[in-house]
Amino acid sequence: MASSWQYALPTRIVFGRGSFSRLAEELARLGRRGLIVSYQPPNPLEDLVDHLTRQLKVLGLESTCFGGLSDEPDVLKIAEAMERLRAFRADWVLGLGGGSVLDTAKLIGWLTASQKPASALVPQNIAEAKLRQQGRERSGEECFSPAKSPSLPVVAVPTTAGSGSEVTEVAVIRCSITASEGQDTEKQLPVKWTVSHPGLRPALAVIDPSVLDRASPELLWRGVADALAQAIEAYLSRAAGDLTNLFAAEAVRLIGESLPALQTARSGAGDQRAVVENSVFEKLSLAAMLAGLALNGAGVTVAHAMAHGLGAVLGWPHAAAVAVASPVCLRWNAAANASRILELRDRAGWGHRASSSGNRATPALKPPEPAGESPEGFVEEIAGVWRQAAKLACVEIAQPITPELIDRLVQSTEVSSVLGLRLNPRRVTRENLAELFREVLTSVQSPDIT
Ligand SMILES: [Fe+2]
Repeated sequence: MASSWQYALPTRIVFGRGSFSRLAEELARLGRRGLIVSYQPPNPLEDLVDHLTRQLKVLGLESTCFGGLSDEPDVLKIAEAMERLRAFRADWVLGLGGGSVLDTAKLIGWLTASQKPASALVPQNIAEAKLRQQGRERSGEECFSPAKSPSLPVVAVPTTAGSGSEVTEVAVIRCSITASEGQDTEKQLPVKWTVSHPGLRPALAVIDPSVLDRASPELLWRGVADALAQAIEAYLSRAAGDLTNLFAAEAVRLIGESLPALQTARSGAGDQRAVVENSVFEKLSLAAMLAGLALNGAGVTVAHAMAHGLGAVLGWPHAAAVAVASPVCLRWNAAANASRILELRDRAGWGHRASSSGNRATPALKPPEPAGESPEGFVEEIAGVWRQAAKLACVEIAQPITPELIDRLVQSTEVSSVLGLRLNPRRVTRENLAELFREVLTSVQSPDIT
């Protein structure tokens, strides 16, 4: 844990039920024309986009929707969105959706001041990737810095409770970079590349928990899996400080409180169901935001590094990859960081919640150990939450677990996540990473997940 730290957040946060209905007024202060970034048709958020567009019209504002997203953007998608933004002469850009949508809005807002193409966001080969990673380690931000702040305001409106992207200065791009295979041959290595820069922080985040009402149980659990992982990794990070610990522990506490209701939220009926869900949605939205704030200062560690490798090489959605990688990584880290994990358990009130209420995240969970003895009970209860999310996401591995596959996963992870691996509380060697990947892929084939 770091003994000195700094933290900056220029993002104005508007939080609460009904805040979406005031979004048009907020946007009116930023300019008359705006680009709304959302999902590709059929957009599950179509009604929200329509509602907002109508409100903007009433206020005399013009908007156009770029609905091209399905998962993390690639360079082509960013270039396409920027073209739309320029053609429309937008004064602001709004991201309405999950983490990938918000990341896209942040990236195109940040790039607007630059004359560089979107392709400059990602390295072309492994040597360039290493140079950029070294620069990021030194300064904490991307070497490629087209602007210190976005030239037009970015507004982030999350419709999931997971990534926390609405308050972070990072964005992830899917890309493929050249890797030398031998003297005369080259191969393409799939990578999830993280861009990190203060200019990526949105000017405004509007977080309305009531939009979660439309989310499926699978989407809610995916969000919980990601936010929980981000909070725990930030807490255990070598860059953690007092403030990020506060954010992370509170995020874990809120998620712990929400789990029993989340298990039964969809099975209730009538007014009782609405009351349960409303309070849960507020806690989950707040937890995701707090985990994002923790990540923003302390970073994430080996589980997110591996999730990027799994997502790039196997095409798994981010939260599903996190849900599968995190139990293995937390157990591995717990072996060398028991006191820190017990401290988090106590600060988050998790042991008290489980022992006093008798609630369990899944039927397979073990009761917590007495305080001060072993983190195993807490670790397994948390692992049960991730297992639930992985089950709902139907993660599967369709290919044999060969040394070549493990090597590709390790290589993709090492290229994309040098900093994440360095921030891990336990030193991660190449051999450790290969062994952890073997364990993660084997766990996917177990009856607990499949
Ligand atoms: Fe994440």
